[in-house]
Amino acid sequence: MSAQPPFKKQHLLDPGFELTLRPMRYPQFYEMYRAAIRNTWTVEEVDFAPDVNDLKSKMSPAERHLVHRLIAFFATGDSIVSNNLVLNLYTHINAPEARMYLSRQLYEEALHVQFYLTLLDTYLPDPEERNRAFAAIENIPSIRRKAEFCFRWIDSVQDLKRLETRAQRRQFLLNLICFACCIEGLFFFAAFAYVYFLRSRGLLHGLASGTNWVFRDESGHMAFAFEAIRCVREEEPGLFDADMQGQVVEMLEEAIQCEIAFAEDVLGGGVAGISPRDMRQYLEYCADQRFAQLGMPRQYGASNPFDFMQLQDVQEVTNFFERRVSAYQVGVQGEVGFDEAF
Ligand SMILES: [Fe+2]
Ligand SMILES: [Fe+2]
Repeated sequence: MSAQPPFKKQHLLDPGFELTLRPMRYPQFYEMYRAAIRNTWTVEEVDFAPDVNDLKSKMSPAERHLVHRLIAFFATGDSIVSNNLVLNLYTHINAPEARMYLSRQLYEEALHVQFYLTLLDTYLPDPEERNRAFAAIENIPSIRRKAEFCFRWIDSVQDLKRLETRAQRRQFLLNLICFACCIEGLFFFAAFAYVYFLRSRGLLHGLASGTNWVFRDESGHMAFAFEAIRCVREEEPGLFDADMQGQVVEMLEEAIQCEIAFAEDVLGGGVAGISPRDMRQYLEYCADQRFAQLGMPRQYGASNPFDFMQLQDVQEVTNFFERRVSAYQVGVQGEVGFDEAF
């Protein structure tokens, strides 16, 4: 008689705190953790000095308004993601190798918080102005609206202690999809687009060089979430039905609306070279990518209107700029340097 397998076959969303790493059920999450470790960077490597000069003497009032709104969004964005990670994702994604990845992601989110804290402190030397930027989530309606969207999806799973039923698992999956597709995959991607737009105008290269690292981290976070969703769908094919897909379509549409309201505010002064209309097309293009990553049909059929984002797409797909630990140890400087590579 053959013995029973030495471990109990569990699904990724089965409740509990599984501890067994061998045999490993999801080696792909462990590999993602290892890849993330190879991409370690520090805020101290980013040189903000050129940006200070740009802000003082090279930018129009409309461009300065764009930057101020952008950094006000950055002031709280990654803290919100971190909170959801700890309160919800870490609780319910039940595999120790997946929790290793989430621990690393939490560190990266803290790094992003540190990056944007340093950015605000550098860009806004006036304490009053600085305090206002940090309080944007309360005072600036277009930022508040995005935050409220996030809080609603965090709150939607706060009563879930254990994912026992189909309905509970779907409730949790919607939260996971929201953070990957809408918050990291739309709100942050839109923010990165503004940064790379400014870089294409020869502005704020310090911010752009740090954003290269953050962009790559966020692409990793999304890849993890999409893989977790793929595993759940494979294990429990009935969960992701037409009803749930309809909810996902609605959720992304609402996120696009929030982000367009932000674009109208951010670009309100009339910034030459970029308009809320361009942003809408870019958001629809990003949303279509998220649908594809979820294995769903595209909804908008939009193409990428921004030439300056093309390289970033390549970066997301290939992880071409993976930084090796040895290179890091000899102190390679901040810029990811893809301008030279292409
Ligand atoms: Fe982040
Ligand atoms: Fe993230």
